[in-house]
Order: sequence, then structure tokens, then C-alpha cells
Amino acid sequence: MKRDIALIRGDGIGPEIVGQAKLVLDRVAALYGHEFNYTDVDMGGNAIDKWGDPLPQEMLDKCLASDSVLLGAVGGPKWNGVPGPMRPEKGLLRLRAGMGVYSNNRPAKIWPQLASASPLKQEIVDKGIDFIIVRELIGGIYFGKHETVTENGEPVAIDELRYSESEIRRIGRIGFETARKRNHKLCSVEKSNVLDSSRLWKKVMHELAEEYPDVELSDMLVDNCAMQIVKDPSQFDVIVTENMFGDILSDEASMITGSIGMIPSSSLGDGTRGLYEPIHGSAPDIAGKDIANPIGTILAAAMMLRFSFDMPQEADCIENAVSKVLDSGYRTGDILPTDAHHCSLVGCTEMGRLIIENLKKG
Ligand code: IPM
Ligand code: MG
Repeated sequence: MKRDIALIRGDGIGPEIVGQAKLVLDRVAALYGHEFNYTDVDMGGNAIDKWGDPLPQEMLDKCLASDSVLLGAVGGPKWNGVPGPMRPEKGLLRLRAGMGVYSNNRPAKIWPQLASASPLKQEIVDKGIDFIIVRELIGGIYFGKHETVTENGEPVAIDELRYSESEIRRIGRIGFETARKRNHKLCSVEKSNVLDSSRLWKKVMHELAEEYPDVELSDMLVDNCAMQIVKDPSQFDVIVTENMFGDILSDEASMITGSIGMIPSSSLGDGTRGLYEPIHGSAPDIAGKDIANPIGTILAAAMMLRFSFDMPQEADCIENAVSKVLDSGYRTGDILPTDAHHCSLVGCTEMGRLIIENLKKG
């Protein structure tokens, strides 16, 4: 099959990790007889430097013309002084909105090889960690009106949080459908004891529940959820939540699995074109040192094959290769245990090379 992939290398460690993911995709294409064509897209800090805009329209157009987008990470201290609407992250938000990818899927699953890297007590880890956070991605406080006004002689900053019923319903459906493909348990997370938007959220989720009698719906307040994720993560199957709660909870969820460097994510809208990225940031402190963990991005590429290109065997092939490399004890610094005698420390390029070496057509 022929597929066009837009590659956003981004800032910081982005170019290094995307470079490795591309090599993995090239090898998969050769093994399975596919043709992947790549278009480079500038976004984030590098696009600000080059074009004076974190996502020029023609770059968004290139993404919209592709079959899917693979992204490393954007941002860094260099652009901290840039005003809000021109920040590198704004490019990412405009890309998500421009692509209409309202549903962000972030798995929190522990790799057995990395169980000891979890900061949780072993008895909690042993009960199992395998859940998905379905995060609404193009609404809520991220996309409300942002302004700073002057009141009584002082600046007052306002960020508007709004959700329409239809926005809630479409992400709710993804939550129920996702649960249906797993263990049929959906936990809707909100703050309905305080927020109107959360009360509407809860009402819509319960209306939808009537259409999905095979899925067990529960409600949880976001503060309690933050606590439950570290107390007993085994209780969760699928969590569905609004944009900012999902942002925060997904970082927490990734940490209990050992390393944020391992977690991919997919963002989809109504079609098959998706945006695939690791959930970690651009890690400018380790950029250019060839020590970043490319696995999150490589697994994001696998998700792209599975969810956008309907290539489940090819996706399994990548995931199996990652598993084999971990079995052999190879680790980047972020997943190296303190008692590392049975493990070998490798850099970004070497980790990519090992994964490619282990790609075997199943
Ligand atoms: C994420 C990131 C982004 C977000 C930032 C970079 C804007 O934290 O993908 O979780 O908040 O959505
Ligand atoms: Mg985040």
C-alpha cells in the first residue's frame, strides 16, 4: 500500500526520535511491500525561527493533504518569551484543531520488563496496570477565549472553559466504543461538584449509557481520580475526560507505568487521518546528546499503522520488536533501573537500530 506521511520533527529531542521512528517505518515498508512517502512539516519553535509563525497555513495544508501525521515534540525555553498566540505549543493546538482530531487516546500500560521502574509499590503494580485515557482534544479551556484585562488597576487573566453538548457527545461515544472493545468499563471523569461544563458532561454521558447497556459507566471527580490512579490503577479500563483533566491525568498515568518516554498517543477525528505523537515533551536538556528514548515515538508510528492505515500485523511487528529489545535488557537512561546489572544502557540511535534489527515479519 502507498501512504503519505507528514513528519513533524519539531524541537529539542524531536528530530532524533522522529528520525528513528522513520527508519523503523522504512524497514516495515520494505518487509511488507508498502511505500511510505514522507513530507517534512515545520511546526513549533523551529517554525517560529524560520517563518515567524509556529504553524504557517501551508504547513497545516501539508498535514491535511497527508494520510497521517507523525510528530516528535515541540517547544523549549528558547521560546519562553514569545507571546501566547505565537508560542510553539500554539502550533500544536492549531494543528489538532485544524485536523479536527477531537479524540486523543493515551494508553497507560505497564511493560512487564519495566515493572520495577514504576514508582508504585510492587503489590499495587502486580494487580495490573492497563487502561486507556480518552481525552477530548479540541475543546474546553484550551480553546476558549483567553484574555488579560485591567480591572481596578491590576491585570486580570481570563481563560474560558466551554463545552457544547455535541462536543461532549462525540467524545463520549468514543469512550463507550473504546470500552466496548476492551473490558466494558468506562469511567467518566469530571468536576461536577463545581463546574457547569462538568454537569453537562455527566448528563450527556448518562444519556449515552442507555445506548451502551453492555458498558458499565461510572462517574468520578477528577481530584478523586488523581488519587485513585496511584492508589489502585487496576480498577480502570477506559477513562473519558475533558481536555485539561486528560492532559494532567495522562501525565500521572504515564509515570506509574515507569516512564513517560514509553507512551504513544493517537488523535483522531471522524475520518482515518490521525495525528500520532509520544506524550512526552521536547526535553531540551537532553537534546542533541543521542540519549533520548525513541520508543514512545516508535510506538506512536505503530499506532498509526494500526488505527489509520489498517495494518495490524505491521503494528504488531513493531510492538513485538520493542518487547524483544526490552527482554534483552537494552534500556535508554530514562528506563534504566537503579540495580542495572542485568541491563545495558544504550542511546537513541542504538535503541532504534536494535528495534529495527528485531523487526520480523510475523
Ligand atoms: C500534551 C502536551 C500539550 C497539551 C502541550 C504541549 C500544549 O502537554 O500533549 O499533553 O497540553 O496538550
Ligand atoms: Mg500534557
